[in-house]
Amino acid sequence: MKEGSRRMYFARIAVAGALLIAIAAMRAQSGPPQSAAPSAAKKTDEAYKNIQVLKGAPADQLMPAMQFISASLGVQCDYCHEMGAFDRDDKKPKQTARKMMEMMFAINKNNFAGHREVTCYSCHRGAIKPVATPVITDHEVKLAFPETPKEEDSSNPAVVEGNPENFQSLGKGHDCARRK
Ligand code: HEC
Ligand code: HEC
Repeated sequence: MKEGSRRMYFARIAVAGALLIAIAAMRAQSGPPQSAAPSAAKKTDEAYKNIQVLKGAPADQLMPAMQFISASLGVQCDYCHEMGAFDRDDKKPKQTARKMMEMMFAINKNNFAGHREVTCYSCHRGAIKPVATPVITDHEVKLAFPETPKEEDSSNPAVVEGNPENFQSLGKGHDCARRK
């Protein structure tokens, strides 16, 4: 592996793994006391002033996690933080972000055996407000099956053209009648 691509590779792992490691660390904390974990590494809540959700994670994972969050929402740090006073909770998005973290952990815990399947990016996709409904246009919709539904139906030109309106009326009338 070339030096450049190797660095990219590790950088990407660091970012993608940040939240996972944070969760794993939190889990570890609630387990048997201090197991084999090296106690030398500082935890987030020891290194920073106002950590409520990401407690117990290795402190050096906080910044990668913050970068991951920023990229997921397509914002800069100052969307949530008073620059120079990162511990303050003045900004509403910071408080919302805490709730979002809790929600994300709960989704993964309850549905994906604690694996990091759902992240901020799964919903946000680089936007502050996730898109909740599929985009529907006025333009003709390209059907996934524009040719013909099946054998003898191919004689209907409406179906061949793939016009969604015609296709719908076909479904209501012709197709239902046929099934009787
Ligand atoms: C979407 C909101 C959001 C964005 C964007 C964000 N953060 Fe944070 N940040 C938080 C939240 C929430 C916490 C507190 C986490 C907790 O309570 O466990 C936090 C905590 C911190 C802390 C710890 C402060 C302390 O002393 O307690 C630092 C430092 C920090 N962020 C830096 C950054 C940097 C640097 C960036 C930009 C790369 C950034 N954050 C982007 C939400 C955000
Ligand atoms: C399951 C989907 C989902 C996940 C996962 C998710 N969010 Fe959200 N988030 C939403 C939705 C939906 C809204 C918009 C709610 C609204 O419109 O009021 C939102 C809103 C927000 C807002 C408020 C934005 C504003 O209006 O200022 C912040 C900040 C935020 N999310 C941060 C995060 C962070 C950080 C993560 C990851 C830890 C995360 N979200 C994960 C669905 C999600």
